[in-house]
Amino acid sequence: MLSSSQIKILTITILVLISSCKGKEHEYHNLMHKIEAESVSYVRDSIQNQNLFDVNDLVAIDENDIHFYIQERKSNIQSYACSECHNKPVEQLHKEGLGKKAHWDITIKHADTKTMSCLSCHNSQNMNNLKSITGDPIDFNKSYKLCSQCHNSQVKDWVGGAHGKNISGWKSARVSKLCVECHNPHQPQIAKRWPSRYNATMVNERK
Ligand code: HEC
Ligand code: HEC
Ligand code: HEC
Ligand code: HEC
Repeated sequence: MLSSSQIKILTITILVLISSCKGKEHEYHNLMHKIEAESVSYVRDSIQNQNLFDVNDLVAIDENDIHFYIQERKSNIQSYACSECHNKPVEQLHKEGLGKKAHWDITIKHADTKTMSCLSCHNSQNMNNLKSITGDPIDFNKSYKLCSQCHNSQVKDWVGGAHGKNISGWKSARVSKLCVECHNPHQPQIAKRWPSRYNATMVNERK
């Protein structure tokens, strides 16, 4: 049996312990408690690559059983929707155009001029879509389908992830750059660049 003074001491000790815990909410009794309380629980799928992108801005691509995404394109095309002006065939716009060129800043340096004219890829009757060689509409978001008619091997490489650029990292869903984000369809050759740093040693060696 405990004596009354022993009970008193015990009660005081318990009270002190309780109040000390209550008063200092962010101090822990040992390191393990602190780690458990303060670490964010690591659930593998809580870190989603898709979070880097707004899912509404992604377009799903399914080719040869390979699934990946590209970023929505149309909202980045300055003069889209084309139908704001192209509400009649181009021939008629030409006549009404008073001889002025609406797209004076666009010239084609792509293949041979006999192979390629504006209307090889664009549809005079339906400017809001691209046009396949057989005259079928191709959505601007899927312009790789236009390119694949003549550059099938590059498109196959791109679908496999070997040509172009993955912008989402390697985990889970892949987001790739679309062809036209690197190659201007009107002048697809990638411009030559100078090295980013002037190489004085090489210049001296050449002397
Ligand atoms: C602000 C008005 C306007 C918008 C927007 C516009 N166009 Fe045009 N476009 C014209 C006019 C006017 C002509 C005809 C006169 C000319 O050839 O410049 C024309 C001509 C063209 C031609 C034929 C050029 C030629 O030399 O035969 C193509 C191809 C074309 N547009 C594509 C597009 C596409 C694709 C879009 C949308 C991404 C677009 N345009 C948006 C006004 C516009
Ligand atoms: C090889 C196919 C091809 C040819 C040839 C071509 N275009 Fe295009 N054009 C495209 C594609 C693909 C796009 C969409 C590019 C993008 O997504 O940024 C485009 C975009 C455009 C746009 C919208 C550009 C912007 O940023 O607003 C206009 C205008 C246009 N083309 C006019 C023309 C005219 C005029 C010609 C002829 C001088 C022409 N195109 C020839 C494939 C072509
Ligand atoms: C109607 C056929 C056709 C279509 C459609 C087409 N191309 Fe081309 N492209 C050619 C030809 C022909 C050449 C020149 C021959 C060569 O270099 O292989 C060429 C050349 C190129 C080159 C090499 C340029 C250089 O000089 O280094 C690139 C890059 C390219 N195209 C990208 C594209 C892209 C991107 C698209 C889709 C927006 C596209 N092409 C659509 C026929 C086409
Ligand atoms: C991340 C940028 C990027 C993307 C996206 C991209 N390319 Fe390229 N592409 C390049 C570079 C860089 C070269 C090499 C250019 C050079 O050697 O001058 C190239 C070369 C090419 C060539 C020339 C022939 C060759 O293989 O060297 C063609 C054709 C071509 N690309 C078509 C395409 C098509 C079609 C797509 C879409 C399916 C595409 N590219 C997507 C960057 C890109």
